[in-house]
Amino acid sequence: MNLPKTLSVQALQWTGETLLVLDQRCLPDIIRYDEYSEAPGVAEAITSMRVRGAPAIGIAAAYAVVLSARQHLEEPSLILKDLDLLAKSRPTAVNLFWALDKMRSILEQNPANLLNVLKETAQKIHADDLADNHRMGELGAQLLTGSKGVLTHCNAGALATGGYGTALGVIRSAVKRGLKNVYAGETRPWLQGARLTVWELSQDGIPVTLIADSAAAWLMQSGAIDWIIVGADRIALNGDTANKIGTYSLAVLARQHGVKVMVVAPTSTIDWQMTDGSGIKIEQRAASELLPAVYHQPESLVCAWNPVFDVTPAELITAIVTERGVIQNPAATGVGSLRV
Ligand code: MRU
Repeated sequence: MNLPKTLSVQALQWTGETLLVLDQRCLPDIIRYDEYSEAPGVAEAITSMRVRGAPAIGIAAAYAVVLSARQHLEEPSLILKDLDLLAKSRPTAVNLFWALDKMRSILEQNPANLLNVLKETAQKIHADDLADNHRMGELGAQLLTGSKGVLTHCNAGALATGGYGTALGVIRSAVKRGLKNVYAGETRPWLQGARLTVWELSQDGIPVTLIADSAAAWLMQSGAIDWIIVGADRIALNGDTANKIGTYSLAVLARQHGVKVMVVAPTSTIDWQMTDGSGIKIEQRAASELLPAVYHQPESLVCAWNPVFDVTPAELITAIVTERGVIQNPAATGVGSLRV
């Protein structure tokens, strides 16, 4: 299925009966939507990273529960089985578990019009995420007043969310206010920066300069940027933040060069049970995502270590921007005050 001409970049589209997922593994070469009518397919789409990015994973999972309920309304145990399958699709992004908990609590309440309530809830999770991103875009852009340039990592854009993006939402809003220089790290090994971020920004007419991840220190040393802006997969109560592998390296480099670090994430990315980052489960993905094909044989002497997230300690973060407000210097206060 091709991208409908009237729509800009959208990772997920709910048709009312099925979920369309833009296959991000093929971007930017091929724009193809796969259509899902059953939850296990969506779980596989999350695991295989057809859909990725913490908020988008949560939204997809919420719609998957609707698909499951449509299919198994008379057999609730099968819906619970799908919930468990979805919960195993990826481990680090807390938005997945946050969305599943919301859907599970509706199933437990079992209202008379269950299917409608589930549908409305999934659509609200999607719509709220988009609205939150616009709000964070404004709050983050205010911090960037007078910025010379910014570097972002991975893809925390419309592709990773319900639309507009978290880190890229801030960049979109800041560009409207005059920000000129936007750099994107390529984000090895999956190349979310090189394949997704530069494509997404260019679709909106925003000029962007791609750098090799290994060029980040030299970019900072050149004085071209004063902020690093990233999204998050899970934020602990003390402000420690899990995000795409390489974020921690950037934050360490930033401290050395006097560059500030902004984390942009909705409060659905805060893990209210996690006191600090040491307990965050870091996903390890297949060695084959990193190794050249010649080393894929089981008898190969060359293996790979492929953690796909890392944890940046709160003391390296200048500000955490959420839809409920900005926490400056999170190391001093943590993020607990954002809880309602
Ligand atoms: O492995 P991915 O591509 O799902 O990792 C995505 C990230 O690390 C993003 O920065 C994060 O999920 C925030 S997306 C708004």
